[in-house]
Amino acid sequence: MENKKKWWKEAVIYQIYPRSFKDSNGDGIGDLAGIVSELDYIVSLGVNAVWMNPVYLSPGCDNGYDISDFRAIQPEYGTMEDMRRLIDELHVRKIRLVMDMVLNHTSDEHAWFRQARGSRDNPYYSYYHWWPAEKGEPPHRCGFFDAAGKGWQYNKATNSYYLHYFAAGQPDLNWENPEVRRQLYDMLRFWLDMGVDGLRMDAICFISKDVDWPEISPQLLKEKYHGDWGHYYAAGPRLHEYLREMNEAVLSKYDVTAIAEAAGISSDQALLFVGEDRKEMDMLYHFEGVAIGYIPGEFKKVDASRYHLNEWKEVYTRWNDALKEKGWGTVYLGNHDQPRMVSRWGDDSEVFREASAKLLLTFLLTMRGTPFIYNGDELGMTNIRFEKIADYQDIETRQMYQNLTDKGGDAEGFLKDQQLTGRDNSRTPFQWTAGPNAGFTSGQPWIRVNANHSVINREKQEEEKGSVLNYFREMVRLRKENAVLVYGDYELLLPEHPAIYAYTRGYEGRVWTVLLNFSNTEQGCVVGGREVTLGAYEAVILR
Ligand code: NOJ
Repeated sequence: MENKKKWWKEAVIYQIYPRSFKDSNGDGIGDLAGIVSELDYIVSLGVNAVWMNPVYLSPGCDNGYDISDFRAIQPEYGTMEDMRRLIDELHVRKIRLVMDMVLNHTSDEHAWFRQARGSRDNPYYSYYHWWPAEKGEPPHRCGFFDAAGKGWQYNKATNSYYLHYFAAGQPDLNWENPEVRRQLYDMLRFWLDMGVDGLRMDAICFISKDVDWPEISPQLLKEKYHGDWGHYYAAGPRLHEYLREMNEAVLSKYDVTAIAEAAGISSDQALLFVGEDRKEMDMLYHFEGVAIGYIPGEFKKVDASRYHLNEWKEVYTRWNDALKEKGWGTVYLGNHDQPRMVSRWGDDSEVFREASAKLLLTFLLTMRGTPFIYNGDELGMTNIRFEKIADYQDIETRQMYQNLTDKGGDAEGFLKDQQLTGRDNSRTPFQWTAGPNAGFTSGQPWIRVNANHSVINREKQEEEKGSVLNYFREMVRLRKENAVLVYGDYELLLPEHPAIYAYTRGYEGRVWTVLLNFSNTEQGCVVGGREVTLGAYEAVILR
């Protein structure tokens, strides 16, 4: 069953975290001009699209996911002129740009919220969700980045509480209000008219709220939503109505791809978002893969075994199958919300770092679904493993730490868990060279540079034929030149093998077999009547 061909299905998307990619002016913060200065590098990777994290005006409580003006650039990243230049320079090189769009919430410093919080009569009041204090305490909601874990914040001037699924500095927009939707659609047109080719929709599954504000008891949460607030938040009653409306009003008018950050979504719901007949989103990225190995009910805690390959196979196969006939998915193993790919899923010890990074890149580039590669993962960059809470910049880590210590919890254990799973691990500066600050900045970097840049850096890997970087380039080329890796069917082989992940991709009579040894010892298997032995973390593709 052949899906319709589309550029975004054939794309390899390179994610750039602008704050940490390249600093052009010595203020220690990456910027747009820095990205432009490294376009040759991006071209050399062979990728055909870039997803860039938010660079809009923002007080920065959540590194730009708290936007105070959707149509302005945060000065530390540059100007609107720099933005236009980046788009043009990318386009000249036939690389498309995917912008991050945050439509679920704004910053509490956005002009809308500054008006709203002034009085109940202000027309902007209904741009947000409020609970009047005369009704008592609001029904509990979780605030993911709130030290007390609360999703409602009291506001004195209005004597009411506003809703925030993330930090108190990120009030949730009220999509029930048609004026809010109209404003957001207008804003999308502003960017699409400027030439943006794709939209990565932040927390998009959370935009619709049950405004009857039912009580969600811990028991209900457990029984109906796997004990996970994300699942409740993603089950809003008007979600699909909104997505269809946005598609009809805006997306359908442009040659643009829309990618849903699908937190709280299970595989049996995937087609509701990306089935072509639904006319909502084009692709989505799920969270089941990156959650493999987490201990249920704990915050980003992984036990000593880290994860079991059979669970990995089950998750990726099930998501593949959900989108087999219709729709389209993505594959990723790292991003700015996840630790470094090789530290979490491979083995970042000196002996196995390179081999396991190549193995993981092989997985990403041979699976069905558009691959997303996070900047630095093409070098096999590793977790920084901060030791003290003071080293962390990330609001999630800081607030969770506060929450835990307020309750007298195990702070040491938490810091240990964060060394493996914390978000700042992937937000450290890109390692260009072995020189000062890894060649990222001439100033004081906003977050500490990983000391291993003396060993892991772009410059060194350019020189080595067999480097992770050059391997990545070769894999990108292989995918681009062989439709079997893009459109081919995926089928799982050897489901029970404890160490080898094996699958085929089949297209127009061709069948390729991918064999990935996820262990640090030699492993054997039989495929197609043939005995194959794989070395530690070896990846093999048989045509
Ligand atoms: C998902 C983003 O990727 C993450 O970085 C951010 O903290 C939350 N959404 C809130 O916007």
